[in-house]
Parts: sequence; C-alpha cells; structure tokens
Amino acid sequence: MLSKLPYSCFGHLTDIITFALHFFDTIFMKHSIILVALVALSAISCETKKETTNEKDTSTMTETENKTLEYTDHHSFSKPQEAVVKHLNWTANVDFETKTLTATAKYDIENLKGVDTIYLDVKNMTISKVTRDDSEGDLAFAIHKKEVFLGDQLAIPITENTKTISIDYLVTAEGADALQFLNPVQTAGKKHPFLFTQSQAILARTWLPCQDSPGIRFTYEATVTVPKGLMALMSATNPTEISETGVYTFQMDQPVPSYLFALAVGDLEYKSLGKGTGVYAEPSVIESAAYEFEDMQSMVDTAEALYGPYKWGMYDVIVLPPSFPFGGMENPRLTFATPTIIAGDKSLTALIAHELAHSWSGNLVTNATWEDIWLNEGFTVYFENRIMEEIFGKDFANMLALLSYQDLQDEIEWLNSENRSADTRLRVDLQGRNPDDGLTGIPYDKGFFLLKLMEETVGREEWDNFLKTYFDTFKFKVMTTDSFLAYLDKELLSKNPEWEKTIQPKKWIFEEGLPDNCPKINSTKFETVEAQLKTWTDGGAAKDIASAEWVTPQWLYFINLLKDTLTQTQMKELDTAFGFTKSGNSEIKAAWFEKVIPNNYEGLGNSVEDFLVEVGRRKFLTPIYKAILKSNGGLPAAKAIYEKARPNYHAVSTETMDNLLGYK
Ligand code: BES
Ligand code: ZN
Repeated sequence: MLSKLPYSCFGHLTDIITFALHFFDTIFMKHSIILVALVALSAISCETKKETTNEKDTSTMTETENKTLEYTDHHSFSKPQEAVVKHLNWTANVDFETKTLTATAKYDIENLKGVDTIYLDVKNMTISKVTRDDSEGDLAFAIHKKEVFLGDQLAIPITENTKTISIDYLVTAEGADALQFLNPVQTAGKKHPFLFTQSQAILARTWLPCQDSPGIRFTYEATVTVPKGLMALMSATNPTEISETGVYTFQMDQPVPSYLFALAVGDLEYKSLGKGTGVYAEPSVIESAAYEFEDMQSMVDTAEALYGPYKWGMYDVIVLPPSFPFGGMENPRLTFATPTIIAGDKSLTALIAHELAHSWSGNLVTNATWEDIWLNEGFTVYFENRIMEEIFGKDFANMLALLSYQDLQDEIEWLNSENRSADTRLRVDLQGRNPDDGLTGIPYDKGFFLLKLMEETVGREEWDNFLKTYFDTFKFKVMTTDSFLAYLDKELLSKNPEWEKTIQPKKWIFEEGLPDNCPKINSTKFETVEAQLKTWTDGGAAKDIASAEWVTPQWLYFINLLKDTLTQTQMKELDTAFGFTKSGNSEIKAAWFEKVIPNNYEGLGNSVEDFLVEVGRRKFLTPIYKAILKSNGGLPAAKAIYEKARPNYHAVSTETMDNLLGYK
C-alpha cells in the first residue's frame, strides 16, 4: 500500500529542502524515542538519586532500583526527548460535501535540549503552512518519507525561544485512515451524514500532526465547525445540545496521549443517566441506548470504590453507527461504542465496564509503547471483571472469566498454527510490524489471567491495595513492562518470598503459551449448560433443554461447545427452538454464524450477508468471513459479500479483511 495522497509543500525553498532531506533519508530508517521518566522512577526508587542512563554498573543499585522508564517506541518518528508538545489548540472545519477536514494545529512546545527541529508524525495529509511564534512568515518545514504503515516525519525548524508552532493542513476521507465519513444511509436516522474517528493505535497521525507515541501527553482545546444541525463531540468537555451556529468548543485539561484524540459528528442527542454519566446517540437510538446503559452510573461508583477516584469529570458514552470497527474505544470522557451491544436486555454491557475501566488502566497509567499493550488491556479486562462481579455477582463474573479462558485457548492454538507462537507472550515484539499485529486476544485474556493469579496468590485485599496505589502513583504517567515488574517486586512480591515463586510473572510475560499455574475457574452455571447439551446430544429434543433462566454467557458457552460438524436437521432443530439466526443479540448471532456457516446451514438465508453489510465491527467480521471461507461457497462467496459490504467498513476493518480475502 502506498500513500494515497501526495504531499504538497508550498514554496520553492521548501521543495528543495524536502527533496534534499528525502534523498538522505532511507525509507526504512527509524527514529526511536528514548525517554527517561525520572519522576516515575523516583516513585519506584526512593533511596537512589542516580541519573538514569544506560550504564551497566548495577553494583550499587538493587535490581528494582535499576529499572528505569527508558524505552524505545518503534512506532513514532517524533523525538520528544529533545522537543516535546505540551498543549494543543486545534481549530477544524468538517466538510461533508468534500469529505475533508481543514485544520490548524497550534502547539505549545518545550524545547528540552535546545534543538533546532521538532519532529511530528504525519501520514497522508496536505500541509499548507507552518509558522512559529518567534519568527515572521512561513517556515521551511520538511516531510521525511518513512514507512508505509507508520507514515512520515514532519520536521519543523525551531529555536531555543520557540514557544508555539502552528500547522495548517487538510485531510481527506481517502487519506485519513482514522476517519470514517458516513453517508446518511449508513446511519440509524438515514437523513444526516456522520463522521467518527478511531486514533488507536497509530492513526492519530492521519488527522493530526502529532508526537504519536502513547507515552507523550498533551492537554488540548479545540474549536470545531460542522454543518448546522449536527452535533460535534470530542474526548473532552462536550456540549449536550446542538449549537445554532455549528461551532463547538472543547477543553481537555488532563494531559492525554494522541491515541485518545477523538471526534464524532452527527445528528445526536444527549440523555443523562446519573450525576456524572450520560449517553449520546442518534434520536432514534437514544431511548434504547439509555435503557441499555442504565447501570452506567453504578458502574462508575463501583469502579471508584474499587480503585480510586475517576479523574476525568464526566463519563459519557456515544453510540455510533454499526460500521464502527471496534466494540468500544475508551476515548476520555466519552467512550465510543458500537450499537451492536444494544441487545435490549442489558446483557452486553460488560463492554461499558471495560471501556470505563480504561479510565484507570490505559488513560491514567498508560502503556509506554504498543509492545506493552497488555498493561492496558489485561488490567482492563481484570478491572472490568471486578466491576461486573460487584454489580452482577460472582456467578456472572465467573462465566465471563471462563469465556475469556475459552477465547485464550483458541487464540493460543490459532497463533501457534500460524507460526506466531512468539505473539503468545504478554510483552510482544512489534519492531518493524504494525502495532495492530499485537492486538490479539493475548494481551486481553492472558493478561487477565496473570492478574487473577496475582489476586489469588496474595489475597484480594493486598492485591486491591496494590492496584489502587499503582493507579494513584502513576496517574498521568507512562508504564513499561519492566517498570511494572520492578514496581510489582518492590511493592508487593518482596513481602513474601513464596509469592514470586508461585506466580512466576516473568514466565507469564516473556515466555510463550499459557503457564500451568493459570487459575482454574468453576462455574455451576456453565455446568448446567454442559449437562443440558449432553441431554440433547444423547438424543433429547432441543425444545426440552431447560434454558428458561439462561443468560447470554450461557448461550455463548452453549454455542461454543456445539460440535463443529452439525447436520442440517440438528441446526434446524436448534434454530427453531432458540431463534439464533434471528437473535437480537449480536454476540449470540455471531457465535452461531461462526458455528453453522462452515456446515452450510440452509436456514441462514440472507441473514449473514445482511449482518456483514450492516456491521463493521472487526471482532465479528474476522470469524464470520473465515467461516464463509470454510463453507461450500468458499472464497468466491466471501468475496461477493465483501464487495457489497466493504464500502461500509472503516479502514481498520478493511485493512484486516483485505488481507484475509486477498482483496485488490
Ligand atoms: N482500546 C481497545 C480497542 C483498541 C485496542 C483499538 C488497540 C485499537 C488498538 C478497546 O478498549 C477494546 O478493547 N475494545 C474491545 C472490547 C472489549 C470488551 C474487549 C472491542 O472493541 O471488542
Ligand atoms: Zn480495551
């Protein structure tokens, strides 16, 4: 894939400089960030006031104290250790006619090392003008062409006195992979267009020139102009009503990394759900969304009671159109969510607990690089499970944990079969790879089970105190896997010599597969499912399965346990008894499709195609398209549906599906 848009640099001198710099820059040359976060270190090491450098003399330092937050981010060309952005003043205009965004990004910067250049990440954008506060006129900036998925390096000349830089630029729907502009037909209301962004992991650079590394935080304010009648929302303070002028202002006073920079524009309404929570959705969706998320305020209260204060002001959720490529995205103050979690019975709200939990694990204490993503996702799955346990009880939380265990086993088996066993380590190696490659079930589910093991080993009280202190100590800071291990050792494991031996955290983190000491979870609710399933496989009738009381995780478990080769009669019998094909629960429907498509179930009709054309959530697309590949229709059938569905998908999903189906 080549950059979709040429860069335009204005001014002859700029062209010459740009050309010269391109000439000397090799395509695959990568700059790395090495950060020394002394503040965070001092929290780990109280006694030693030693400069944190790469020096190997460890004689005077304990292992714990020697750990620093020095790290390399292979996925950014910025050099924040030299000159770093601190605050963004963003002005943007959204044009739905041309599907473009015209913007000015004005940054307050700090020239830490007195360097003559500040570097930002950019990809596929047209930069028209760069200025700075301490010199007149346009600057001769340069764009160093770098790497296909990482984009390019924007180099802006600065001096020791430069306080602000300002960049005028334009991005298009074509070039900006973070953005999805939707036509009215792709929305619930069918009348107004819609726009949403998805910056994580490294897509912020496609719509904002930025130091696109999760460890670099900035505060921001923004003024965004959209067509009259539409509402604009960001990961910031938000309006609750449509503005008459189409102009909206935003403020984010807590420093956030670029991957949490987010915008949504559409025909939206707000409904409060409690003193600090609410939901945004299109008018036709708002009531069902408000009902579905009724427990949100109690989730926030529960989360705070578990691990300390929520630091972001409001916690709102926006329900996006179904093409949103993820289930949820933890944009601060405003979680972005797929409408596929609206099942009508609040059964899929663990996803909200998950995104809320990121307000601590991820947004507050942030993975330094995408190789440390398990620190975000593993902690979040654990935290999510604790919220669910508090609100819906231990039985329910155990069922979710067991589903996670099933997923984990499948994921490890699959990664092994793909010769990707190295990716079954919690700390992954993503050098030279797209961070998306690290986004498997491993950081989520293996991470969850490691933390669960810690909890079981040290006892819940001790563990909760540790976690709470961890979030507080490192709030608004970055965390590497090594720093976490050092902190864990110092604050927890050193208290009892048995704990380290029992847990073996390094084995979990740096070695492949699932260690033998993985916690075992029992669920009587799932045992019931197994027993009922056995009655059916032994010849009982599906309609006699005692499922009246079953909840969604039980249905998912039931479907997952069905054998891979079902006959038409069996599939029809189950479908008639339980209505899986027409289920209003997207998880149940997707699990069912995955099971019966490879068996060419005749009762599916157009339902698979309808689902794939409407829904763009990658977690559903991948298994369903894979199932079609296994069916009689094979690749041509998958491609025929994809052809119709693709225009509805966000770039995150097309990237994955193009690869899966060999599209283009
Ligand atoms: N932050 C993730 C989504 C993500 C991760 C996007 C990495 C891009 C790169 C979000 O919190 C998430 O994990 N979403 C899950 C939901 C969850 C309940 C496991 C999803 O979208 O399915
Ligand atoms: Zn997550």
